[in-house]
Amino acid sequence: MKGKVVKLLMVFIMTFSIFTGFMNKNTYTQVNASASDSYLSNIKKKGTIVMGTAPDYPPYEFTKNEGGQAKILGADIELAKQIAKNMGVKLKIKSMSFDSLLVALQTGKVDMVIAGLTKTPERAKSVDFTIPYYNGGQSLLVNSNDNSIKSYKDLNNQSVGVQTGSTQYNLVKQQVKNASLKGMESVNDLVLALKTNKVKAVAVESATGEAYASNTPGIKAIDAKFNTAKAQNVVAFHKGATSLVNAANKTIKAANASQEFEKKFIPEASKQMGTSAKKQKISVWQQMYNYKDYFIKGTEYTILISIIGTILGLLLGILLALMRLSKNKLFHAIAVAYIEFIRGTPLMVQIMFVYFGLGTIVNVPALTSGIIAVFINSGAYVAEIIRSGIESIDDGQSEAARSLGFSSHQTMQIVVLPQAIKNILPALGNEFVSLIKESSIVSIIGVTDLIYQLRIVQADTYQGVVPIFIVMVIYFILTFGISRLLGLLEGRLKHEE
Ligand code: ARG
Repeated sequence: MKGKVVKLLMVFIMTFSIFTGFMNKNTYTQVNASASDSYLSNIKKKGTIVMGTAPDYPPYEFTKNEGGQAKILGADIELAKQIAKNMGVKLKIKSMSFDSLLVALQTGKVDMVIAGLTKTPERAKSVDFTIPYYNGGQSLLVNSNDNSIKSYKDLNNQSVGVQTGSTQYNLVKQQVKNASLKGMESVNDLVLALKTNKVKAVAVESATGEAYASNTPGIKAIDAKFNTAKAQNVVAFHKGATSLVNAANKTIKAANASQEFEKKFIPEASKQMGTSAKKQKISVWQQMYNYKDYFIKGTEYTILISIIGTILGLLLGILLALMRLSKNKLFHAIAVAYIEFIRGTPLMVQIMFVYFGLGTIVNVPALTSGIIAVFINSGAYVAEIIRSGIESIDDGQSEAARSLGFSSHQTMQIVVLPQAIKNILPALGNEFVSLIKESSIVSIIGVTDLIYQLRIVQADTYQGVVPIFIVMVIYFILTFGISRLLGLLEGRLKHEE
């Protein structure tokens, strides 16, 4: 037993060191690149600069429905366009959650981050900043009928919503006494939490506070009056990308001279912002109907990821199951280690690891990363399904077959497998159904599945609950429909017995 554990550990360590070895090599080349700082020339060669942003922060960045397409608009986007234009390259926008942005920048997923991002000494340790392009104040969003809160001082001992990874998180933590902080990834969720009285207030930048307050019925924005100088918003680049910082600084200097950001970009963005159903004078359901393309597209992606995930997962699962059942000790150990490791870590972490971790070696797009993570994960479960299917066939049967003179191959093929498959198929069906649900996590890396589209619709329509309900119904229809279909197939198999 002990020997087995030691062997397992060794396989683990070996796989891990091969992997980290790869990574180190990669960091080394990156360091080299920054020493001569070829960042700007690389971007020019590529012809595109990729900007990362979190479009839940109007008027800086937000999404808007334009003919069934979610467009990312906002004052930050206007600034980004100018920066790209002055560099002579095209702008590409990647959206993700706010707390993933700086990681994405460090791992080369994006070339710059513009996201209402405030300059802080901690952040400056891992990325480089331009000069500030805007100085924002701090607001608190509160329910309109709540007059008990006039500033951050009235929030002592209350629960306050803040975006995870934001400077507001620290502001509240440091200045509000005994606040219970509710950190969430998206500001839309925070606003929903406020409306449903899960939190007393939500801390955001002033311009964003005003944008939400003017479009969300029932909430208002007040000055937070924190004891801090104004937040300086800056553009972030990879550490050492001085050539890019300098180029962007030139654009920002020119914009600052004419106060273009506050006088032109913000007012223009405010005009483009989506408006609530109430303001448009249409019913919520009609408003949701206008967003049907989003739900359809999300459903398509969810199905696509689950189907490819299941098929590839099945192939990997068969391989792993054979390895695990094989007499070769090394194969057996690798399979056991893989299965245990994958089953012992959350799919969410695996997705982030594939996207950001593997991403440092080869640049894998979000959708591919999502599919890879899903099938890597599913493979481990499928392997166990297949193994237990095979093991469920009583040993006596194989022994009987062997004593009748069947070879071990024949025994497998003629006696064991046909029976095992009948046990395996229903479990595989369940695996497919659970992938439909579990793959919902891929939205964290920006794969445009149902959950991702849900976020966009929520942000765009200022409706919190109705889109969640719709997505819930879609998931149910998908899983219930597939379960019934599989049930029918299973019935048929039984018949053939
Ligand atoms: N200014 C704050 C910060 O830098 C919040 C920015 C949030 N931006 C966003 N796109 N959600 O932490």
